[in-house]
Amino acid sequence: MKRRSFIKNGIIGTLGAGIMPSSILSSRDCTITHSDILGPYWSPNHPHRTILANLEEPGTRIFISGVVTTNDCETPIQNALVDVWQANNDGCYTVFQDCQSGNSNNDQYNLRGLIVTDQNGYYGFESIFPGYYAGRPRHFHYKVTSPSGLELVTQCYFKVDPLIDEDWEENHLGLVIPLEETENGLVGILDIVMNEEASLTSIDNKPFSSPNGFSLDTLYPNPFNNSIKIDFTINNLGYVDIGIYDITGKWILNLIGKQMQSGKYNIVWKGSDVAGNAVASGPYLVIMKFGSSIQTKKIKLIK
Ligand SMILES: [Fe+2]
Repeated sequence: MKRRSFIKNGIIGTLGAGIMPSSILSSRDCTITHSDILGPYWSPNHPHRTILANLEEPGTRIFISGVVTTNDCETPIQNALVDVWQANNDGCYTVFQDCQSGNSNNDQYNLRGLIVTDQNGYYGFESIFPGYYAGRPRHFHYKVTSPSGLELVTQCYFKVDPLIDEDWEENHLGLVIPLEETENGLVGILDIVMNEEASLTSIDNKPFSSPNGFSLDTLYPNPFNNSIKIDFTINNLGYVDIGIYDITGKWILNLIGKQMQSGKYNIVWKGSDVAGNAVASGPYLVIMKFGSSIQTKKIKLIK
């Protein structure tokens, strides 16, 4: 498969059919996923996305996926937020450090992203193999939040990493994963078991899975010249993400990314990107995500 179609379909489309969660889960003991340190480089408001590294980002492409379940290791947790952040190929973290390599599109949140689990508890993302820093093994950071609010902070390490020895594996049980080399890059699976009862999940999932739980309302004026007001409604407590993308799907910036109470809201976009620079005239997409549902509306900037 060519890289382009692999990326377009995403790892869920490409690998999902061949790797069934139940077969993975039944072949191992059921253990709550161990926690690990948060570290100093987590930041709030990571954008929702499954590709954390643009195609020019230096490093080996890597595809990580898995299933988030309750403490029975079987019941999937839908609409869990899987927050991932990592160092670049040279061990540098955006937001906190001035990285001298990579990040060709000046993305404030380069190598950071939030993924929402689907109805099977499945999450997946594409990125680059994290680099080394401060003598630490390569790792992804994870902060997983279930719809009931339970949080698990952990990290994902790799058996192929020469810095991982037996002691490290013993002290990070279940967090050191094998990687398979494919023509598209490295592929690994990290399933996550939250310390949460299945019954709690089924109750708390309901508000998040409502198809009518939110709406992207009036966008005014459209076309717009200086700024556009975006009205939206949410009918339940939940995580709201509203972002601006160009028509090729390239992320421009996030307007909102936080837990909100039900109600009617509005937010204004003044036609600038994440670095504060004015964007070019043309069509853009407003994409609102609530739980695992998405609504999109087209807007046009005319200067
Ligand atoms: Fe780290």
